[in-house]
Amino acid sequence: MEKIIDEQLQGSALERPERLGNTKKLFIESYGCQMNFSDSEIVASILAKEGYDTTTDLNQADLVLVNTCSIREKAEQTVRKRLETYNAIKKTNPSMKVGVLGCMAERLKSKFLEEEKIVDLVVGPDAYKDLPNLLDEVEAGREAVNVILSKDETYGDVAPVRLGGNGVTAFVSITRGCDNMCTFCVVPFTRGRERSRDPQSILEEINDLAVKGYKEVTLLGQNVDSYLWYGGGLKKDFKNASEMAQATAVDFAQLLDLVATTQPKMRFRFSTSNPQDMTRSVLHIMAKHPNICNYIHLPVQSGSTRILEAMNRQHTREEYMALIDDIRKIIPDCGISHDMIAGFPTETEEDHQDTLSLMEYVQYDFGFMFMYSERPGTMAARKMEDDVPDAIKKRRLTEIIELQQKHSALRTKNFVGKTVEVLIEKESKKDPGFWSGRTPQNTVAVFPKEHYKPGDFVMVHIEECTSATLIGKAVQMGNA
Ligand code: SAH
Ligand code: F3S
Repeated sequence: MEKIIDEQLQGSALERPERLGNTKKLFIESYGCQMNFSDSEIVASILAKEGYDTTTDLNQADLVLVNTCSIREKAEQTVRKRLETYNAIKKTNPSMKVGVLGCMAERLKSKFLEEEKIVDLVVGPDAYKDLPNLLDEVEAGREAVNVILSKDETYGDVAPVRLGGNGVTAFVSITRGCDNMCTFCVVPFTRGRERSRDPQSILEEINDLAVKGYKEVTLLGQNVDSYLWYGGGLKKDFKNASEMAQATAVDFAQLLDLVATTQPKMRFRFSTSNPQDMTRSVLHIMAKHPNICNYIHLPVQSGSTRILEAMNRQHTREEYMALIDDIRKIIPDCGISHDMIAGFPTETEEDHQDTLSLMEYVQYDFGFMFMYSERPGTMAARKMEDDVPDAIKKRRLTEIIELQQKHSALRTKNFVGKTVEVLIEKESKKDPGFWSGRTPQNTVAVFPKEHYKPGDFVMVHIEECTSATLIGKAVQMGNA
């Protein structure tokens, strides 16, 4: 059940240890997708050089930044409420500055700055390197805004400051932006064109994490399967064969192969996969490497081919099912999760039944399920009427969630009696005597702490379960 809630709306403030010499305090809060949380680590790194340490105490902050999400209307409303809170504090501490980062920056810059005057600083997802200049502008009492989207900024040269994490698992972004133009989605407008990051800088960041003791890395992108990096160049431009090998085109399957081979002691995940771009070679690379987790987040959005077409998803229901069949064949114990939208324009009861029957076919481990929310500027908003009444959207969403809970319970039950490898991440929230971690399939497992510690790979015998959590007992250390 934990995984079914709209976790995209849960903000969290991040803190890192004090750094000598830094005197100013930054309070940074992130909403939305993992990419935003990852971007906040880049922002913290850029601002550390400007003399800022992070704090989780709003009242101590010299600078408050909120990394925002525009994906659904509800996400934007949550951020607006937070801005009201910041402004209330600002009344008692007028020197405190407030800035908006991320997806809402692009959409609402003039509104924030001119009409409402509730923020001092507006910075879009590709302009974080401009933050030092923008802060100077704020200090000089001028309007500070940069929402220019870039075709090539990947922040590959910024070493993120790891914030608020568990020291065991981390995210590393490999692409930015998205070119897919799903008709409901605001991301291509707020985050711009898709670009891939230099594999060398990805490997370096992962190596740095390994040295610091991290055990699991999730490669991040709006659409990781379309990762493609061209080094280009001519043979004569390279000193030796290995330098040249690094400089030729690398696709996502090759990148996965590269990271898994380079760091055999680390576990790898990736998110998000797009059915239209996921290649069979990715599945074979997953099967080849025991340290690539057998788990795929494969959003489908609808089970109806007609709705998929209206959403500009470039595959049919049958093609998606064929991909699922291949996943099950090539990686028999693969965990699969989904994103689903209820009540896209023109969705009929029959389309909705197609969604439920597709879910029956796949039997997903878990999913993120949403009511359609019209986003200004998207193709769906421009060309289609948001014509499914709210009550019907709600009812369909409830049916989708209930079916998912049934499948999740079946899936977790399947693990009872088996022994699975769990990477310990942190103490269980419900019981301080238990560790909490995840299986390769991305299912949460808890078990008594005994002498184990975070970062250990442990073989856990599963004794019971809820629909979202496995409960067991450690039997021995794992292999990794
Ligand atoms: N490829 C991205 C998708 C980001 S949006 C990724 O990395 O996950 C995450 C999910 O939000 C989408 O898969 C979709 O299910 C949902 N979503 C996006 N736009 C939406 C909208 N307008 N209304 C409701 N849900 C939406
Ligand atoms: Fe959005 Fe579709 Fe890209 S959901 S992020 S446009 S793959």
